[in-house]
Amino acid sequence: MNVLLIGATGDVGQAIVQELSSRHHLIQASRATSGSNRVDLRDSRSIYRLLEQHQGLDALIVAASEPHFGPLDQMTGELVREGLEGKLLGQIDAVLAARDLLADRGSVTLTSGLLGEACIRYGACAAAVNGAIEGFVRAAAAEMNRGLRLNVVSPGLLESSTARIGQYFRGFDPIPPARVGRAYARSVEGIETGQIYAVR
Ligand SMILES: NC(=O)c1ccc[n+]([C@@H]2O[C@H](COP(=O)([O-])OP(=O)(O)OC[C@H]3O[C@@H](n4cnc5c(N)ncnc54)[C@H](OP(=O)(O)O)[C@@H]3O)[C@@H](O)[C@H]2O)c1
Repeated sequence: MNVLLIGATGDVGQAIVQELSSRHHLIQASRATSGSNRVDLRDSRSIYRLLEQHQGLDALIVAASEPHFGPLDQMTGELVREGLEGKLLGQIDAVLAARDLLADRGSVTLTSGLLGEACIRYGACAAAVNGAIEGFVRAAAAEMNRGLRLNVVSPGLLESSTARIGQYFRGFDPIPPARVGRAYARSVEGIETGQIYAVR
């Protein structure tokens, strides 16, 4: 299959690359990637442009962009909106582009996360964003035409991310990246739609 991955250089993205690159033609995109694989989820035109440049895509995966993370008493509307731009609105924009440009019977896989169901300090915006993504996927999947499928993977804290963000997740069991990669494979290579694959 031709699979486009947005967020390929990140911790989750690398778990997906490990799982899928031996079986599929995997196109790796991110914000800092050079040339035609460069994309910014905060800019819907750049998402459309990316998909238009890669005709014949069978699958789109998005595993990129963090919402605002910080204490409630320092939260501002501006910080919240900046965070919504990439992870929430960017992923919805990606679904809309895929609706128009993916091959028939293709699949879209988005990313939410543990903070959609578990509360940690500083995680209120992430909780809002992850919950919204999952709600969107559940409802939008039922309306996708041309046999297109839509799922979301909700990873727990990856082992490969503990050095960077583990201090905010004391008491949580880190997840081997390979398990997270397999959840994306299940979405891309399976037949289900409207699913939330929680990896805990
Ligand atoms: N790591 C975890 O344990 C974990 C657990 C649950 C959920 N998640 C979720 O999984 C997603 C990926 O997390 P991660 O830990 O892999 O992040 P990461 O290591 O910080 O990597 C983020 C990736 O997304 C790309 N990116 C960031 N902003 C972007 C934008 N506006 N447009 C396009 N690409 C952008 C980055 O590319 P550039 O460097 O080129 O900008 C990079 O490839 C996030 O939504 C996160 O909330 C992660």
